[in-house]
Amino acid sequence: MTTRHPLILAPSLLTADFGHLADAVRTAEAGGADYIHLDVMDGIFVPNITFGPMIIAAVRKATALPLDVHLMIEAPERYLAEFVAAGASVLTVQVEACKHLHRTVQQITELGCKAGIALNPATPIESVREILPFVDQVLVMSVNPGFGSQRFIETSTSKLRRMRKLMEEYSPLADLEVDGGVDTHNISDIVAAGANVIVVGSAVFNPYAPVAENIARLREAALRDD
Ligand code: DX5
Ligand code: ZN
Repeated sequence: MTTRHPLILAPSLLTADFGHLADAVRTAEAGGADYIHLDVMDGIFVPNITFGPMIIAAVRKATALPLDVHLMIEAPERYLAEFVAAGASVLTVQVEACKHLHRTVQQITELGCKAGIALNPATPIESVREILPFVDQVLVMSVNPGFGSQRFIETSTSKLRRMRKLMEEYSPLADLEVDGGVDTHNISDIVAAGANVIVVGSAVFNPYAPVAENIARLREAALRDD
């Protein structure tokens, strides 16, 4: 985290109460969230199915926060315009799901949206070097995509460090995001490794403590120097 890359906490709605989604979004905003992270899954790229543009549009009406839309869908180029029209502020595609990644990133930019790319845990950082100059955000998956509440893959911290180093050369203004298994115990190492957009699902929406308290604890832990 630097002045150029401020800390951004992005609660994921995946473990929120979908019967009261607007309330969950408003609670996160009031509790200090910086972005709302929305996980779109198609049952093909990942085993799980969640929601599409209609739910994004409903969330758009409930908050003024930027919407960080994470597309875990095959051939996402088919739906980019719909997600931008629904109110996405950042649109992230999985690099493994794109045949022509450069074209897809260009289309997102042309639609007036910030473009993000996401890498699965087994996808090497070098595989995205040539696209880095064209993106606004890089997402390092620290679990296999598909479900909330999974355990953080420990090697992701070193991957983040190496990714930030590569980005310093090819994409110095872009944000580095991490997604999966982040909690108060590992967040400070993750931030020290260079991540500045931090997705937090079950560490924010859980039955143990109120959302505002969870967000405050995560922010405090992220800024702790140890
Ligand atoms: C996983 C999703 C994540 C997930 C994060 O496929 O991309 O955004 O919901 O949830 P936690 O923080 O519980 O791992
Ligand atoms: Zn996500």
